This record gives sequence, C-alpha cells and structure tokens, in this order.
Amino acid sequence: MLNFSFYNPTNIVFGEGQLQELDNLVPKDARVLITYGGGSAQRTGALDRVKAELGKSERSLFEFAGIPANPALTVLLQAIEYVRENRIDFLLAVGGGSVMDGTKFIALASYAKEFQGRERELMNFGFNPVPVASAIPFGTVVTLPATGSEMNNGAVISDGEDKLPVFSPYTFPRFSILDPTLTYTLPATQVANGIVDTFIHTVEQYITYPAEGRFQDRTAEGILQTLVEVGKKTIDDPSDYDARANLVWCSTMALNGLIGAGVPQDWNTHMIGHEITALTGIDHAKTLATIQPAIWRVRRQEKREKLLQYAERVWSITEGGEEERIDQAIARTEEFFQSLGIPTRLSAYDLGEDFIGRVLTSLERHGMTALSERGDVTLEVSKRILQAAL
Ligand code: NZQ
Ligand code: ZN
Repeated sequence: MLNFSFYNPTNIVFGEGQLQELDNLVPKDARVLITYGGGSAQRTGALDRVKAELGKSERSLFEFAGIPANPALTVLLQAIEYVRENRIDFLLAVGGGSVMDGTKFIALASYAKEFQGRERELMNFGFNPVPVASAIPFGTVVTLPATGSEMNNGAVISDGEDKLPVFSPYTFPRFSILDPTLTYTLPATQVANGIVDTFIHTVEQYITYPAEGRFQDRTAEGILQTLVEVGKKTIDDPSDYDARANLVWCSTMALNGLIGAGVPQDWNTHMIGHEITALTGIDHAKTLATIQPAIWRVRRQEKREKLLQYAERVWSITEGGEEERIDQAIARTEEFFQSLGIPTRLSAYDLGEDFIGRVLTSLERHGMTALSERGDVTLEVSKRILQAAL
C-alpha cells in the first residue's frame, strides 16, 4: 500500500427529514447566502423548505440564483461581488455538483485579497492547493447524487473552453445534508448521469495496477456492485427510498478520499471528459461513458491485472482466457451504461474524427500530456483513446 494522509472534516447528516437539522448546523447569527442553480430548487420547493428552517433563528438570509451547470466563472464573479457588498459570512449551496463547486469557488475567492480583481487566476493551480489561507465556511444541501462534491474539497470551474479543477484544504463543506427524497424530482437522465459519474469515480481509483490496497479494492467493488444492483431500479422507481438512499451514499463515498487513499489513481477519463464538456456542453457523466471503455480497450495491457480482478469480482466473469474475460468486462460495463440510457460512443453525439484534433489541442493547452496512474498517457495515446471512443 502507498503512503497517504487522509483528512475529511465534513459532517454528513443523512436521511429523510434531515433538513430540520439546518437550524442547528448553521451559526445562528450568520449572514447566510443561499446559492442555487437555474430554478430546480425553487420549482421543487427545496429552497422554501431551506429558508423555513434557517428562518427559525435570527439569521440574515440572502439568495444568489442562477449558478449554471458547469459553473461559469462570469456568474461566480457576480456572486463574489454580492458576497462582499453584503458582508456574507456563511454560504449554503442547495443543488448538485455545479452549485456546490461554484459555491466552493465563491467561498475561496470572495475575501482572498491577493486575488481581488484577478480571481480567474485561482483556476491556474490544477490539483495543487490554491495559495489562499482561508475561505468562507459553507454547507451543502444535496439535490443530485453524483459528484461527491458534498464531501470533498475539489471544484471544477468553467471559463469558456477552460474547465479546470480548483482545490483547497478550506473547501471541505462544514456539513452536507443528504436527504434522498430531495432527489426524487430529478429527471431520469440526471439520475443516470449520477450513477455513471459515481461508477467512473470509483474505477478511476480502482482499475489501475495492484497496490495491495485490499480494503480500498473491496470497498470500490462494493460501490460498483451496489450501483449495478440499484441503478436501473432507482431510475425506474425514483421514489423507492432505499434504492435512492444507496445511490446517494455511494456517490458520496466514491469521491471523499476513502477509496483513493493509499492506492494509485488514474483520472484520465475525467481529464479528457472535461475537455469534451468544455468544447461541446455535453453533460459531464455522458462524456465519461464514452471515454472510459475506450481507455480500457487501449490500455488493457497496463491495467490487465485490475481489469481481470474487476471482471471476476464485480461481474463474476471466470470463464475463458484473459483477453476474453477483459473483453467481457468491458462489454458488461458498456451494456450497464447503455441500460441506463447513456451512450458509450462519441458518434452518438455526432462527434467524429475531426473533433479529435480539437480535444488534443485543449489537452495540450492545459498541460494534460502525461495522464493516468503511470503518467504515460501522452497526447498520442489520448488520440488513440479518442479514436477508440468514436
Ligand atoms: O440548475 P438547476 O435548475 O438546479 O437544475 C439542475 C441542473 O440543470 C438539475 N437538478 C439538480 N437537482 C435537481 C435538479 N433537477 C430536478 N430536481 C433536482 N433535485 O440537474 C442539472 C445538473 O446539475 P449539475 O449540478 O450540473 O450536475 P452534477 O451534480 O452532475 O454536477 C456536474 C458538475 O460537477 C463537476 C462536473 O465537472 C460538472 O461541472 N464535477 C465535480 C466534482 C467534484 N467537485 O468533486 C467531480 C466530478 O468528477 C465532476 O467533474
Ligand atoms: Zn466525475
């Protein structure tokens, strides 16, 4: 097992009715800015319920609406201005990954004097922590299980054709309320996105090379098997509480640092997927579903042992030679994504050979030229992956 440091301070408050804990979780004298997206929080009534809970104490409440999917820097800058004008000292994100990520950026940038007027530069640090020494404390109320943003310190921020990660030790949420019933209103395609994103977060930290991380492997396999068990069920019957609760908890656990501690991590699918979303606007998870199987086809040699372990333990594939078992595992994975209504080829989005060059240009511009758990995915390998995804 590799050396690691595991730190996660987020208080998870899970289950139906847990919104009532908000009054205990948010400081009673706070000037709270509630952040949300393009309207679902209003339509579903989640926003009114949040306001009613916060209104039980003498807090000053403010609202910022309109954080879009793939949170755009231009919108976040408006929120930052609003935070400064109103001396906000607590943020509450009500939404999915985009609202949570956008709120993390607002929390970091609003009072960071050294970045005032040049907040965009906070997007230049990649996976290194941004050099900011504090952030506004914030909590989240999750309405879409997918990204794990509710229990990690990462955000992905968009600015035109740049979609880049931002990390800080100060952007762990203080708390996250996970009430599965708040997700019942999601359209089926967003639930499917959440299942696929969670699945791929898990394999990015699991299908690499063996590192004797037995707990991590078994936990990853548990998440994957749970997603296979409940995935279709929770799309077909959104108000099946237990199926949805299992999806919500898997999403959080897949990207809170637990299964990735002490083992190699890949993130190749995500880095290529982010470029595709930035160039086309295709949903985050939908880009991943086209790239992940392609990576396994192209890098089956580098990932051989873990692909065979995955075939056996997740899909019970034990018959046939090694190549055949790997082929079957890739096929079963694609069938699973497709069964949720998510295509596994770029051609489903009318993207062909001519698109590949644009992705490669973006990868090069963003320094994504040595990706994967081994750092051996050059632009040439990315090209082969994209060709295999057509
Ligand atoms: O904007 P509103 O109107 O709220 O609608 C949203 C949005 O259109 C809607 N929605 C959310 N909750 C709903 C609902 N509709 C009905 N009922 C509800 N309960 O769903 C749409 C998609 O929301 P979004 O937040 O964009 O989706 P998701 O949670 O999948 O987040 C995707 C973003 O997270 C980033 C992605 O890159 C992308 O920008 N990621 C963040 C990560 C992290 N912080 O760790 C890791 C991920 O790999 C990912 O990159
Ligand atoms: Zn993701």
